[in-house]
Amino acid sequence: MSDSSDWGVPGTGPEIYERVFVPAMLGPWAKRGLTIAGPQPGEQVLDVACGTGALTRLLARAVGSGGHVFGLDLNPDMLAVARRLPVNQVDWRDGSAGALPFEDAAPAPCRSRMNPSMSFAAPLG
Ligand SMILES: C[S@@+](CC[C@H](N)C(=O)[O-])C[C@H]1O[C@@H](n2cnc3c(N)ncnc32)[C@H](O)[C@@H]1O
Repeated sequence: MSDSSDWGVPGTGPEIYERVFVPAMLGPWAKRGLTIAGPQPGEQVLDVACGTGALTRLLARAVGSGGHVFGLDLNPDMLAVARRLPVNQVDWRDGSAGALPFEDAAPAPCRSRMNPSMSFAAPLG
């Protein structure tokens, strides 16, 4: 991946996404998603299509040390940026919403209606 955008902004696409688009746009959406989802302390939560983790980080804070958050995305470059940022209680997983990589170890209860860009009609489990 290029280390500079076509319009001269330094960084890879995912880095620019996190540095520019999250503060300007996705961050406020993530806060709204958090409010709608209302994750509780101690819960396990799955953030589908987590990208660089704007919402995932808020979820981790909300569920606290007794909870756990899975951030799933099919773009390894987005996950690479997510993994570099400091946050506890998050497992970053490479994978697709169409084939969740959990099998018998799926987080339960699990919510997936909190992603600003990819919403599901109902919780997964
Ligand atoms: C616009 S970004 C949003 C990221 C994050 N939800 C946020 O609010 O910042 C869309 C993300 O969806 C991911 N994505 C698209 N289709 C997906 C799928 N089928 N399974 C998992 N992730 C997917 C992309 O890789 C990308 O990181």
